Amino acid sequence: MHLIAQLGHLTIETANLPVAAQEAQDMLGFRISMRDMDRVSLTSNRRRAEITYIAAACPAVRSIGLEAVSVDAVKEAHRRALSAGFEILSMEPTVRGTEAGFVFQGPSGHAFEVHSAVPRDQLPDYMTLGVRPARLDHVSITVRNVAETRDMLSEILGMKLSDTADDETFLFMRAADGYHHTIAVVQGEPGLHHYSLEARDVGDLFRICDQLSHFNRPLVWGPGHHGANAQSYFTYYRDGDGCIVEHSYGMTKIANESIYRPQVWPAKPGPGEDWLNLWGVPPTDMFGSPGLPLSDCWQRARVA
Ligand SMILES: [Fe+2]
Repeated sequence: MHLIAQLGHLTIETANLPVAAQEAQDMLGFRISMRDMDRVSLTSNRRRAEITYIAAACPAVRSIGLEAVSVDAVKEAHRRALSAGFEILSMEPTVRGTEAGFVFQGPSGHAFEVHSAVPRDQLPDYMTLGVRPARLDHVSITVRNVAETRDMLSEILGMKLSDTADDETFLFMRAADGYHHTIAVVQGEPGLHHYSLEARDVGDLFRICDQLSHFNRPLVWGPGHHGANAQSYFTYYRDGDGCIVEHSYGMTKIANESIYRPQVWPAKPGPGEDWLNLWGVPPTDMFGSPGLPLSDCWQRARVA
């Protein structure tokens, strides 16, 4: 049974809060929904917050939100996390006005926040210089042991496997909204490799490429067309904090879970097997390098 509806609220620590917030508005097309001395929350739709930047000494990912299907689903996830021995880091939701939420530490050290629906009380439309996305749609995390994280996402949170690489170095997990993946899990030093924004139009992928030049940010991969069962069009660039940001359009929705079967794809595609990019250009070295490390704020809170 799915406990998670879709990706939730993402919290990122940044070494330069004003620059990160300005770029999120002027390039990515977010608007600020809440602001304090040391943090800025942004949204691109009715949700009160999709991303929050927090001022810190170094860039890092503080927590990855997963929006549960109900308050009862939050409680069930909490019960399962406790009984499986995962450490509970907080019993508070990170977005004001959210009814329920807790944060726990996953197998590779990521802080996952399971929260009920973030309030939908923001302007549905607004003016922006940037390329306004529909929503934050997925994250790609790097972990030491891919199978361990897959099992946690499945057993604690009820997420489903959509596709996997033949050597199990990466795989894709989906939530109740049916999109092919809400979390991609990739073997590597633990961190956040990228987050993805769902574009409102395929042409927005080209508009964002034009925007990048004004911010002196090069593309790190794309435009291209992912294969497997995701079938989304993509661009990727690296932001000022080193996090890779994807723009994605057209990801497949799995309409009928009862007949869907995950497929196994070659991690090192041979000739004619190139499913990572159906247009044939493989990932660049820049794409393969790490994104954001994990925040040490939870560790510091423990010590204090
Ligand atoms: Fe992605």
